[in-house]
Amino acid sequence: MESHPHVRVLRGKKIILGVTGGIAAYKAVTVASRLAQAGALVDVLMTEAAQKFVAPLTFSALTGRSVATDLWSLGNGQIMHVALAREVDLFLVAPATANTIAKLALGLADDPLSATALASRGPLLLAPAMETGMWLNPITQQHMQALIQRGAFTVGPMEGRLASGAMGIGRMAEPPQIIEMARKVLGRNGPLAGVHVVITAGGTQEPLDPVRFVSNRSTGKMGMALATSARDFGAEVSIVHSPLQVSVPFGVASVPVRTAAEMRAATFDLLPRTDVLIGAAAVADYRPATVADQKIKKKSGNLDIELVRNPDILGEVGAQRQQSGRPRVMVGFAAETEDLLANAKVKLESKRLDLILVNDVSAPHSGFGTETNQVTLLDKWGDVLPWPLLSKDEVADRLMVWVARRIQGKGLADLGA
Ligand code: PMT
Repeated sequence: MESHPHVRVLRGKKIILGVTGGIAAYKAVTVASRLAQAGALVDVLMTEAAQKFVAPLTFSALTGRSVATDLWSLGNGQIMHVALAREVDLFLVAPATANTIAKLALGLADDPLSATALASRGPLLLAPAMETGMWLNPITQQHMQALIQRGAFTVGPMEGRLASGAMGIGRMAEPPQIIEMARKVLGRNGPLAGVHVVITAGGTQEPLDPVRFVSNRSTGKMGMALATSARDFGAEVSIVHSPLQVSVPFGVASVPVRTAAEMRAATFDLLPRTDVLIGAAAVADYRPATVADQKIKKKSGNLDIELVRNPDILGEVGAQRQQSGRPRVMVGFAAETEDLLANAKVKLESKRLDLILVNDVSAPHSGFGTETNQVTLLDKWGDVLPWPLLSKDEVADRLMVWVARRIQGKGLADLGA
């Protein structure tokens, strides 16, 4: 399998991580480590108070870069905060105390963090952390509003246990949420900015009685990878999904459904503002003809269940596509166990798709529930492109490159991959 350790939107990005003096500073260590592992170049700036909680050495060991701890730290012979401010893709402050938020709002510049922030042109992302009273104080709220009006982004704070032991709002967002928000901010002007991508995901559940249903082994992993990738490419993303074994990514609108009929209704509701529709859901083709009001009792002998056809969601959307002009781009998946290409071609044509990704769901490490997938792309112009076994994240990223090019009017041949 091709390795995919880096996150596309973070790879090579210059991120300043400002750490201020709160107990949540220990969680900034995880943030720095994960950003660096994902391929970002992370420069840490610490206030004096932050150094009381975590040693600068911890951050420099994890990021492989020097850490600025006072206004006059030198990096490559230059005053570090001045050099750093010049080129920055994201200025993240986690945790952001009330004191630092006030300094940033007022333009004070008496420590490496506030001085660099004042000089920096990159987007500012704040992860506030403080006691409830400080957070709710009108002066803190005014400072936050001033920063947001000037274009700052925020994540948290959350409700929960605070440093004092009290419960309330003021707890810093958890590192995974901070990283997800950083990805969203970095991707906001990406190739799918202004595009609404709707994804269907998971296996629909067709009830038989109040406690039983007919379904399949889809976990939603492929759909969630697609949603994350589309978000990182700058798209507005909605995901119409049946009950999942994975969580919906941060910054993606979740539309929970259960049955194929509900998934169809939700997809058609979104259609007037859908630019790109990607069908990754394993929609049950049949449902029980009747749903028992009460739990079906065990009897002697066999039980026959009559199944009736479910709507073909992509088929119906495809049939009205020429008339409505929506979606502009439509992608399906084909879950096959035999005659992969021939079967996928029939689905591509009958559902009027632009592209279908056929996965051999009987192959090891591919299809339902796996972390990886091996797909072949077939487009409506007759191009066929087999991809190697990849992580589902990488399949999603590669598909988004194709979608972005399609939105710009280019086909598979231009992908060259
Ligand atoms: O969720 P995971 O565990 O990560 O697994 C991923 C996956 C294997 C489910 C995914 O990669 C996949 O292949 N999804 C499509 C599964 C499927 O139902 O394929 P199909 O060949 O039956 O359907 C073809 C296309 O029509 C699909 O895009 C499907 O969403 C759509 N369809 C199918 C039936 C139906 N009634 N309505 C539809 O819209």
